[in-house]
Amino acid sequence: MAVEITADMVIHDVVTQYPQTIQVFQGHGLPCTACHVGARESVAGGARTHRLDVDALVKDLNLVANGQEAEGIKPRTKAPVGRGIPLTMAGGTPGGKIRHIVAIMSGKGGVGKSLVTGLLGVSLARQGLKVGILDGDITGPSIAKELGVRGTPTKAPGGIEPLRTQGGIKVMSMNMFLPNSTDPVVWRGPMVSSAIKQFYSDVDWDRLDFLLVDLPPGTSDAPMTVMQSLPLDGVVIVTSPQMLATEIVMKCIKMVQTLKGKMLGVVENMAYLTMPDGSRNELFGPSNGPELVAMTGAPLLAQIPIDPTIAMLCDAGKLEEYHSDEFDTLADNFVKALKIAAGPSGPRRALPMAAR
Ligand SMILES: Nc1ncnc2c1ncn2[C@@H]1O[C@H](COP(=O)(O)OP(=O)(O)OP(=O)(O)O)[C@@H](O)[C@H]1O
Ligand SMILES: [Mg+2]
Repeated sequence: MAVEITADMVIHDVVTQYPQTIQVFQGHGLPCTACHVGARESVAGGARTHRLDVDALVKDLNLVANGQEAEGIKPRTKAPVGRGIPLTMAGGTPGGKIRHIVAIMSGKGGVGKSLVTGLLGVSLARQGLKVGILDGDITGPSIAKELGVRGTPTKAPGGIEPLRTQGGIKVMSMNMFLPNSTDPVVWRGPMVSSAIKQFYSDVDWDRLDFLLVDLPPGTSDAPMTVMQSLPLDGVVIVTSPQMLATEIVMKCIKMVQTLKGKMLGVVENMAYLTMPDGSRNELFGPSNGPELVAMTGAPLLAQIPIDPTIAMLCDAGKLEEYHSDEFDTLADNFVKALKIAAGPSGPRRALPMAAR
């Protein structure tokens, strides 16, 4: 059956399904495939912004997507991999099999990014959704350990097989390839970037509702690679109430804004400790959640308390056994935030916060 590309299709969806159309967009002088705008802009919208003839563009897109040549557009057999151009998935299948890709970030180390990634994955999987976790922390991986995933991934015809948790979450992490889990990965930035790209493009993720990408702290190679090479729906920012954490987290937020990423929400971890009498002790000071919401325009998805059970289950690799109302709230708000972000238009609205 002939492929039909229409002007109302999102640029990113077109190039992920038909990578050969990248040269058509670029040949027409529309660079949106190489920037984050393409993740939400339609073909017609992109053409309008760049003052192009939308009918001519759509005609050429259809010619090339159907294996024909378009005048003045050089055919290329392989989709280029580079800044903002979606990577091709394992087995040459476009990344369209993954419905949502979301990165979990924070400028600050140790605030609970991996924990939020893991528990978000667990909550979504409990709702019957298909979840994968790509551990983007190449030099300090912790996801596999906290979810109790052990072993070495094998190579199958469709690509590298991710390992699965007991609850069925697919996981890919650098730790799985180390002879000893305590061996360091002493790599420079380009190697780290290359490994992250391979974890996306060479792994057989198959069909997923969510691919969550756990990122290391900071604003350099790993987050840049993920934001520029993976077709992200958006990012979730993790912070803790300390002012220091918030200031460093602001650097991360500004990075996301600079790279034109979409902020889906903020999670405030270690927000309080519940005392034996039921009162809340804000150990690290009062919440900065409202300020973060004002600064980012993104909703506060949840406030997670300090819970010794979390630390204990992480160390034992049994995070899937954790249950809490706050995490159910987080997962619900996360799904709502994605729907709002993907909605037609309008300002982002604050979502209900975790129970105070
Ligand atoms: N709310 C919490 N209650 C109890 N322990 C927590 C909580 N959040 C995180 N921890 C513990 O703190 C440690 C650090 O958490 P985590 O590894 O998720 O942080 P991170 O931001 O991913 O760190 P890094 O910057 O090193 O990647 C873990 O051992 C985790 O179990
Ligand atoms: Mg981490």
